[in-house]
Amino acid sequence: MTRRWKIILGVGAAAAVVIGAPLTWHMLPPGPFSFVGGRNVSLAEYGGPSPVGVPAQLRNASLVERGKYITEAADCAACHTTTGGTPYAGGRAFRTPFGTLYSPNITADKETGIGTWTDADFVRAVHQGIAKDGTRLYPAFPYESYSLLTDDDVKAIRAYLFSLPPVRAETPANAMKFPFNQRSLMAFWSFFYNPDKRFRPYPDRSPEWNRGAYVTEALAHCGDCHTPRNLGQALDNRNKFAGFVVDGWNAYNITQDRDSGIGAWTDDQIVEYLKTGHTVGRGGAGGPMAEVVEVSLSRMAESDIRAMVTYLRTIPSVRTPDLPAPKAEAASDSHRKMTGTSDARGKQVFQGACVSCHGWSGNSLLTPEATLIGARSVNDISAANVALAVLSGIERPAPGLSMPSFRRAYTDAEVAAVANYVTARFGAKGSALTAKDVAELRAQSEP
Ligand code: HEC
Ligand code: HEC
Ligand code: HEC
Repeated sequence: MTRRWKIILGVGAAAAVVIGAPLTWHMLPPGPFSFVGGRNVSLAEYGGPSPVGVPAQLRNASLVERGKYITEAADCAACHTTTGGTPYAGGRAFRTPFGTLYSPNITADKETGIGTWTDADFVRAVHQGIAKDGTRLYPAFPYESYSLLTDDDVKAIRAYLFSLPPVRAETPANAMKFPFNQRSLMAFWSFFYNPDKRFRPYPDRSPEWNRGAYVTEALAHCGDCHTPRNLGQALDNRNKFAGFVVDGWNAYNITQDRDSGIGAWTDDQIVEYLKTGHTVGRGGAGGPMAEVVEVSLSRMAESDIRAMVTYLRTIPSVRTPDLPAPKAEAASDSHRKMTGTSDARGKQVFQGACVSCHGWSGNSLLTPEATLIGARSVNDISAANVALAVLSGIERPAPGLSMPSFRRAYTDAEVAAVANYVTARFGAKGSALTAKDVAELRAQSEP
């Protein structure tokens, strides 16, 4: 071998180690329970009350009733229903960087739904992401979380879906770009990222913690939105629950960090937020989180919500620099921070369209739900969720007051101006959202 070749090979090998090791580390994140430590056991070996299935008060209910609870807790309706459409009839579009994907019809219709699927077909799809005909499914269907579900719980879901009237609804064809339209490639994805292992309880933790772990990870799959993803689109559990972006909305840090996470919230505040989509002094749920509350969390037993809180309390803290501790009161107009570029227009819009509900102090005189002081969104330096709240509005269940959508009323520049005004006035640090940023958010949140 010539000296030149030796040098090239030597440098190549060194580069492979230097680049390869961190890349492998990045590409192969640990599982959802890697933070726990300690021993876990199979359900059969676990001595405590069962952490799986339905809450105690439903244990003797019919299979269909148990299935209903589990289906709602697993939030299957959110993705398999279009706005205003029949639940579970599919057709909802998922815009990914790799193209557009539509959720299928999962009602019992024999031709356009899953009416011919057996228990075994269904369990394989939910655990492994493989359809009845052997087609590989994209992980937009979060089967890496659902693979933690017991077979019995998945069968209960099927029993419930099959108890509903079948709906004839053809699923629109996907428009994925090459090479992502090659479904067989998902076999590699599953090989690396879906271990296809059922939940194993931790005997050293309390029964409530174990129930919370099952509900949070296997059923509610909170990490699907709140955990960042790596380059392979797998959950980066080293930054578990540290926050991610869904359809432009920031799904905030829900680790125990006191400033940027929910470490400073009381248990009751977290419970109230999850059950009702709002908690006094900390703001409310808009966008995708409002939907999770509506179709899933608000229908769950309080014992399960409390168990989730017990589990969430043990998630390691991660700090997000763009999410400072919420500020306790509004800044005055003369404050230096209030002199951002589009400030005058921002104030005008606020005065014309917002102040009647939100007040100059940020403390609403109409309803505590419209109080902006203390809300994460106005303390988020990106202001994305503020702009999205303005564009899309926020529906609150009756008899609550809803926030109207201003999508048609204001230009991108005006939405940016009012968002920057709102964060500067009511938040810890003013944002610098541009009209171009708003144009992107507008496209991502197109109804
Ligand atoms: C985050 C969104 C999301 C959630 C939540 C979700 N799904 Fe899906 N599901 C999808 C998408 C998207 C597809 C289509 C994937 C593809 O085309 O590769 C899919 C595919 C499926 C399929 C395959 C159907 C077929 O005809 O091939 C079944 C079955 C299914 N989901 C059942 C469920 C059940 C049961 C739940 C709740 C436990 C659920 N899904 C929750 C998004 C979701
Ligand atoms: C008709 C009353 C009404 C008007 C007008 C209105 N809002 Fe709202 N807004 C609400 C309510 C009610 C909520 C609380 C929704 C919830 O509980 O999640 C809300 C929520 C918000 C939030 C989210 C707060 C959080 O908890 O994260 C922001 C930001 C916001 N509004 C900004 C604005 C801006 C800016 C305008 C003017 C362009 C405006 N609102 C106009 C009623 C209104
Ligand atoms: C479909 C995506 C999605 C799922 C699933 C989801 N979230 Fe969220 N979550 C969000 C978004 C987006 C926000 C921000 C809402 C806003 O600002 O109006 C949010 C906000 C929150 C907040 C408020 C944080 C703050 O600082 O204000 C908490 C707490 C929360 N989620 C907990 C959970 C838990 C627990 C689960 C599982 C049961 C969960 N979320 C599942 C998208 C999601």
